[in-house]
Amino acid sequence: KRMKFSRTILVTGGSGFIGSHLVCSLVDKHPDWRILNLDNLDYCCSSRSLESVEDRENYTFIRGDVCNSRLVNHIFNTEPVDAIFHLAAKTHVESSFQSPSSFHHVNVDGTKVLLGAAYRARHQPRRFIYVSTDEVYGASTDQVFDESSPMRPSNPYSATKAAAEFLVTSYWDKFKFPVIITRSNNIYGPRQYTEKVIPRFLSLLQMDKKCTIQGTLPISRHFLFVDDAIKAFLLLLEKGTVGEIYNVGTTCEIPIVQLARELVKMVKNVPDSEVTDWLEFVPDRPLVDLRYPIRCEKLLQLGWKAQVSWAEGIRQTVKWYQDNPDFWSDTSKDQGPGGECEETADPVRSVHHLMEQ
Ligand SMILES: NC(=O)c1ccc[n+]([C@@H]2O[C@H](COP(=O)([O-])OP(=O)(O)OC[C@H]3O[C@@H](n4cnc5c(N)ncnc54)[C@H](O)[C@@H]3O)[C@@H](O)[C@H]2O)c1
Repeated sequence: KRMKFSRTILVTGGSGFIGSHLVCSLVDKHPDWRILNLDNLDYCCSSRSLESVEDRENYTFIRGDVCNSRLVNHIFNTEPVDAIFHLAAKTHVESSFQSPSSFHHVNVDGTKVLLGAAYRARHQPRRFIYVSTDEVYGASTDQVFDESSPMRPSNPYSATKAAAEFLVTSYWDKFKFPVIITRSNNIYGPRQYTEKVIPRFLSLLQMDKKCTIQGTLPISRHFLFVDDAIKAFLLLLEKGTVGEIYNVGTTCEIPIVQLARELVKMVKNVPDSEVTDWLEFVPDRPLVDLRYPIRCEKLLQLGWKAQVSWAEGIRQTVKWYQDNPDFWSDTSKDQGPGGECEETADPVRSVHHLMEQ
């Protein structure tokens, strides 16, 4: 049965925001590829994110922890994995100050386990793509970062992403294991969990609450629509040069205050004079990086270009949150960012079970 698939792709964190878009895109576009998703369904996941692909023949879900070396080794011993997209991570910057060790565990140890297993696999993977972030550069005022800029992470989240990058790079340096690293700007779109800024503002407004803006500094972010990010990742799978780092960026930089104003106008339909009534300024704790401008010539040279304008991307995103107001309400009620997820009693057995289906 397996013979009919020409490639096997393992996505870790495939049930998360970006991961679910990546998995859906791979499953839809490549019926002849087998897509495995390894995810432990942390608090930021909804099983509904993958509804559209869950019954597809070329999709297999493995519920488990990327830090579980027994499970991860088992996957690489039994599946001919050709390429890995490693997205599984703890991702919420603010919680990273409260529980830095869980960030270290998943983001660093998890990457170590996955790299080791992939490297030792009988069937040698042709690509290991590590999805990192612009936050590894640290904050900028004027400087635009390119891939050779130094990493100066300034919070536990970005520090663990940077640490994982060093591990990934070491497998290239020492073994020529075919890794690629992506560093992307903020990604936004449908199905993003409500702790991230755009869905947070949208869900506050939907509950008739004000958008809370932290601090008084002119914080801004570059926003890339999720479909454009996925296109970049898929292009890098085919055309990226191994051992290289690629920034995945956009010129669309938006001050957070302006973002809140735009969303208030879109959701509440109020005149300009009343927009400020929907904003609330709260103290900054901890201090947030100002901005992360990046240059992405290397990726542009491969033929990638962001195609979805901010106006279009945010329109689609707002519409999705309006059409799906209850999508996150079940998960967010009983689990906060500290909420841990129970693993299946015997993950290896459950993998067997899944794979026999
Ligand atoms: N969202 C962004 O703006 C952005 C930007 C740049 C890079 N990234 C990176 O992209 C990746 C995905 O981010 P996202 O925004 O989709 O985050 P997300 O929090 O929505 O998804 C993370 C996924 O990882 C899974 N996960 C967490 N711990 C795990 C573990 N121990 N074992 C297996 N799975 C586990 C979660 O269940 C979830 O499905 C992350 O590595 C993040 O650092 C995100």
